[in-house]
Amino acid sequence: MPEREPPDRDPPAQDKPAPPREPEVELVEVRGPGDFAAALAIREVVFIEEQQVPREIERDDEDPTAFHLLAQVGGHAIGTGRLVELREPPSGEQGRWAQIGRMAVLVSHRRHKVGSKILAGLEAEARRRGLDGIVLHAQVYAHGFYEHVGYRDTSPIFDEAGIPHTEMRKRLKG
Ligand SMILES: CC(C)(COP(=O)(O)OP(=O)(O)OC[C@H]1O[C@@H](n2cnc3c(N)ncnc32)[C@H](O)[C@@H]1OP(=O)(O)O)[C@@H](O)C(=O)NCCC(=O)NCCS
Repeated sequence: MPEREPPDRDPPAQDKPAPPREPEVELVEVRGPGDFAAALAIREVVFIEEQQVPREIERDDEDPTAFHLLAQVGGHAIGTGRLVELREPPSGEQGRWAQIGRMAVLVSHRRHKVGSKILAGLEAEARRRGLDGIVLHAQVYAHGFYEHVGYRDTSPIFDEAGIPHTEMRKRLKG
């Protein structure tokens, strides 16, 4: 009698190879010149090369005192953003406010929640400092990115660096 073929069954779960894991995105605070150079390199590619923002606008005097975050995968920087504490609250607001800006993720890593992670990290720092709110200038095309997590328009559309923006705010207290 011919031998029967073994039934075509899936191997038990514990014998299956694990599906490839997406590399972890890690957030690190920029603390030294090496990290800061990595953040500037991302801003160079995203703002100056991709969006044609003039370098003299992209670099400003807030950088040395701002709180910067880097998103890294396997030690390579793929995104950045910064938090700048304001000297005065925006019009009509009270207390201590900060501005989030220079949010940039390399094009090859967009729409994988890297930007959201950076934004959440900057907000966490603002809360840690006890700040009352955050204001930002959102490029109109990226409006949904900020609206998604509670930022609301507080201005009509205006031009900044040749790109249409709106001011958006989020209160962190009350
Ligand atoms: C804006 C930016 C930082 C977003 O980073 P990202 O990692 O791609 O964003 P995320 O994946 O975390 O997006 C989270 C959600 O925000 C929204 N969103 C993100 N990018 C968006 C876009 N371009 N348009 C509309 N909604 C967007 C979506 O709802 C998205 O969720 P979904 O992908 O499940 O639909 C990134 O597109 C970027 O670097 N752009 C170029 C530089 C720039 O314009 N910076 C912002 C200046 S205001």
